[in-house]
Amino acid sequence: MRNSGSPGTAAAHACLDLMRSRRQTSPKRLIDPGPSAEQIHALFEAAAQAPDHGRIRPWRFVHVSEVARPALGEAFASALRERDPLATPAHWQDARDKALRSPFLALAIARLDDAHSGIPAAERYVSLGCALQNMLLVAHALGYGAGLVSGRAVHSGALRDLFGIEAGELAVCFIAVGTVRQDKPARARPAPREFVSIL
Ligand SMILES: Cc1cc2nc3c(=O)[nH]c(=O)nc-3n(C[C@H](O)[C@H](O)[C@H](O)COP(=O)(O)O)c2cc1C
Repeated sequence: MRNSGSPGTAAAHACLDLMRSRRQTSPKRLIDPGPSAEQIHALFEAAAQAPDHGRIRPWRFVHVSEVARPALGEAFASALRERDPLATPAHWQDARDKALRSPFLALAIARLDDAHSGIPAAERYVSLGCALQNMLLVAHALGYGAGLVSGRAVHSGALRDLFGIEAGELAVCFIAVGTVRQDKPARARPAPREFVSIL
């Protein structure tokens, strides 16, 4: 068993330090340069390391390329029109502009179909959450800022159509990665005693 002073301890400290220094960076604060093709591959490899009960890979990602950004912008604008008939053309343009933020952008989609009905939805979301956290940590370790963004557009018909989201799938959030334009202070984290009890 590994204990204090072993190589395992150093690795645990390095891992915890990485987690402690990670923080949410919103896409509007992420600029070029973004991750290279090789680094993007590493991000998705990190996702593949997530725990996965039943080995069903209950999630998938769609990488939003540069050429697809205008189409994403149109989907955001349509989503806004769908939910807010009072939105003005200036609001639609703001919605479009959101699609241009962050050098790397991918949509995280949970697969909740019945094909493996023995695995409950909660476990599938946990697996996706682990995949996302793995990606956030690798992005941070590579020196990038990263963040998750959802918003109501994620569940819109326009977005479902653009991304080919099928029945039995749910778009959960985007993951954005890039160079941090302006850092922000770390938030206070809960102490274990605030969320751990003993049976
Ligand atoms: C599924 C999911 C969706 C999120 N969507 C948003 C979002 O739409 N906008 C946002 O500002 N943050 C979003 N976040 C990020 C949280 O706001 C962020 O994690 C939280 O503020 C804590 O900050 P930290 O990640 O630095 O600990 C999302 C987080 C998760 C897990």
